[in-house]
Amino acid sequence: MEKNEIIRITSEYVKEKLSKDTSGHDWWHTYRVWKAAVEIARREKADIFIVELAALLHDIADHKMHNGDYNAGAKKAREWLESLKVDNETIEKVTDIVANVSFSKGNIPKSNEGKIVQDADRLDALGAIGIARAFAYGGKIGKEMHNPNIKPNGENTTSINHFYDKLLKLKDKMNTVAGKKLAEERYKFLEEYLRRFYDEWEAKI
Ligand code: ADP
Ligand code: NI
Repeated sequence: MEKNEIIRITSEYVKEKLSKDTSGHDWWHTYRVWKAAVEIARREKADIFIVELAALLHDIADHKMHNGDYNAGAKKAREWLESLKVDNETIEKVTDIVANVSFSKGNIPKSNEGKIVQDADRLDALGAIGIARAFAYGGKIGKEMHNPNIKPNGENTTSINHFYDKLLKLKDKMNTVAGKKLAEERYKFLEEYLRRFYDEWEAKI
């Protein structure tokens, strides 16, 4: 099978699998990570085919939905790629990325391609989209949007506190030069957003 065809059919497969998710790992999250990963891969001169496959399959079985099993995604990705008769070297590279990409796990993938996919995944937690995802996810798990009486303490309190617990720290964890640059722009937007949020909270603007 041609590489283009493998990518196309994999995107259809993932789209179908993730279409019903509302936890922030829906198909459109994967779509955005895929596009961002390709953009970073171009700038970093990495193997775009590996990056595309790993980005497409990176959330195929999220650990939160599989009782904390981080290997479920790699296993599913392997089964899928084997069914397409993709060569073994590609399968090893892609599944290694899928197993290590999640930022809550805290690993850094070994390969350049893995570092790129991890950066792309983190970018989607920043900027305008990252803000939307934080509130969507916070609402889903029953968190208040904001409560001035509860300070950030790393303990999963309000959605605004999630910015301090996690989002604002992401830019210093980016792996690639291109990823860092994009993260810095999105970080600035978060800062600006928070300034306005607090001003509006007190009706200062
Ligand atoms: P990953 O699957 O890469 O480990 P997460 O599942 O931790 O990432 O996060 C997915 C999305 O949900 C991100 O946009 C993240 O900011 C958001 N999110 C995760 N935990 C919280 C939380 N406690 N409150 C608000 N948003 C959250
Ligand atoms: Ni993801």
